[in-house]
Amino acid sequence: MNPQLCLAALTLTGLAAASGQAPTLKQAAQQRGMLIGGAVSSTLFDDLDPEYAGTVAREFSVIVSENGMKWKALEGTQNEFVYGLTDATVNWAQERGVKVRGHTLVWHDSVPAWVYQLGTAPQMRGAMKNHIQSVMKHFGSRVMIWDVVNEAIADTPGNPLRANSPFALAGPDYIDAAFRWAHEANPAARLYYNDYGAEGMNGKSDAMYALVKGMLARGVPMTGVGFQAHLDSGYSVKDSGMLENLRRFHDLGLDIQLTEVDVQLPASGATPANLARQAQVYRDLIGACVSVKCSAFVMWGVNDTSSWRAGGKPLLFDDDYAKKPAYGAVIQPLQTR
Ligand code: XIL
Repeated sequence: MNPQLCLAALTLTGLAAASGQAPTLKQAAQQRGMLIGGAVSSTLFDDLDPEYAGTVAREFSVIVSENGMKWKALEGTQNEFVYGLTDATVNWAQERGVKVRGHTLVWHDSVPAWVYQLGTAPQMRGAMKNHIQSVMKHFGSRVMIWDVVNEAIADTPGNPLRANSPFALAGPDYIDAAFRWAHEANPAARLYYNDYGAEGMNGKSDAMYALVKGMLARGVPMTGVGFQAHLDSGYSVKDSGMLENLRRFHDLGLDIQLTEVDVQLPASGATPANLARQAQVYRDLIGACVSVKCSAFVMWGVNDTSSWRAGGKPLLFDDDYAKKPAYGAVIQPLQTR
């Protein structure tokens, strides 16, 4: 971390300590030069519970619009872009010095019907370039971190690129092309390939490693890789070889981010033992993140009720926004020097 940032972070935690207030997640993460935060709903401001926005403002230094930047949300009709709700979220963040992660420019899911009706590679490439560049230019310097391509690798044996993506029509080089178009639209933006199930050492992460290594060899402009980390409390960071896996990507010179972290409880629910186990997984995840100097730790939601997997109570804040054991498990390692 640069010395000035370090000093600023120390001062912040120092101030929090001197005033008797516990430091927040974002203050603790700042000491590591890391952003911390989560996905927020597009209706953040309409939320009846002011604690939702209050928690985000107090604890998070980065947010993601959970669904508001997906293709279907922004360009439901070809070349007619609708930014209203998402702009409100982005502006809310900007006014508070909270960074925004853009998610996501190219994904096989949440794609409007008109994209599937495109019939040729040039038509698909034209639509992709227009979408990527229009969206990035619209948000400009307000959004400097982008998931350019999300979940392109299939889960079938050998983990080839997904055949069920409408973007496959654009040609086998469509991922490279997407990154080049993104870089052209905003040369200063940080560009990521993002996927799930590739956290540990496994066939999928091997495929992802080969993909990004090839991209780097071809001179494709990219900053790093995002590991979603939708996990459950039975997950073992150690046994999965996650640290070793993150390290090999880091050794390629890529930045690492954990982008959609949530850790589901088993069906037996929020028992003390299950909450402790969940906390341990969070502790190991933040530890792995710190070890590879990851630049962001982003959770997929704010509190349990608002999670897309609400039944699994997978986040740091409970239904009433109280801090769960997992909160302490994340903040403590960030504060330990
Ligand atoms: C999910 C949202 O959380 C849901 O609200 C929506 O219905 C579907 O998408 N991987 C991703 C995210 O990259 O965009 C997904 O978000 C969760 C899985």
